[in-house]
Amino acid sequence: MSIVPNLGLTGKPLLKLADLTDEQVLGLVDFAIALKARKRAGVHLNNPLLKGKNICLIFQKSSTRTRCSTIVAVQDEGGNAEYLGQSDIHFGKKESVRDTARVLGRLFDGLLFRGFHQSTVEELAAYSGIPVWNGLTDEWHPTQVLADLQTIKEHFGRLKGLKFAFIGDGRNNVCNSLMVGCAKAGINFVDVCPEALSPAPEILALARTAAARNGSTVEVSHDPSSGVKGANVLYTDVWVSMGEEAMFAERLKLLRPFQVNMAMAKATGNLGGELMFLHCLPAFHDDKTEVSKSTGAMEVSDDVFESDFSKVFDEAENRMHTIKAMILSSMVTP
Ligand code: CP
Ligand code: NVA
Repeated sequence: MSIVPNLGLTGKPLLKLADLTDEQVLGLVDFAIALKARKRAGVHLNNPLLKGKNICLIFQKSSTRTRCSTIVAVQDEGGNAEYLGQSDIHFGKKESVRDTARVLGRLFDGLLFRGFHQSTVEELAAYSGIPVWNGLTDEWHPTQVLADLQTIKEHFGRLKGLKFAFIGDGRNNVCNSLMVGCAKAGINFVDVCPEALSPAPEILALARTAAARNGSTVEVSHDPSSGVKGANVLYTDVWVSMGEEAMFAERLKLLRPFQVNMAMAKATGNLGGELMFLHCLPAFHDDKTEVSKSTGAMEVSDDVFESDFSKVFDEAENRMHTIKAMILSSMVTP
């Protein structure tokens, strides 16, 4: 019997979580948990599932986790992964996205894209004829949230009914995806952000429809201490996403009161109990990076980042297991 569950994703892309059913999202998380155990046991070495498959990565933005997770996931399963950076191919400069898609679709079996516009990953999916996966755009970061849900489920043993607080830039790609992913899992979600960085009404509405279906809520709060009350998960992301570097000074001014620190962890009422800290990474939590040193940006204090309730490195590892679950679900017939 195939270890790949029948989630109805064979041959399909993953461009944003909103395109999946709630069951498909939860099924991918459970599949990733099973794949993690399978890798720990070394079973994948005897029965690799992507032998003879060629997977292409097109990245317009930098990446450590998404790039390396995809490469390791594919290689674990006996496939080949080819990384194409911004200056490696003609993409969008001398050749249109749709022509590139049609060429790469003749050569590769699957394609993961990281870049700016959601419309680019959609165009790649429409014209390549192969499964295309979104490895982050300005609007969405779906593979991140699969790993986040996996980490929460592994840690608490459940998803439904927990309270999740995202604190920071409440309209960025990670927050948008978390809002939808948590709603699909029946997790109560609060977006704690300055008013100027509130989520787009259409994304909020989308998440609220999913939450209503699953008996949970999606709220927006502009007050950090009351917003995080009762939270089981505190989550933040950088204050300035890739491509928005010109906004640094303005964001620092808006977001300094929203730093995740021990006072905020105490304000949840769950410190010492059911509380975890997550961050998609990379994170500014000390002055040991060029950017945090020169700007003073620090979305999380070092004591929270290094605390025993911080599970950020479990979360980073889970990027690989969830990306593997997604690729196998698209590429392997159950
Ligand atoms: N969290 C995440 O996507 O990390 P990278 O930018 O390193 O891929
Ligand atoms: N919001 C961040 C996420 C990085 C993984 C960015 O887009 O830069």
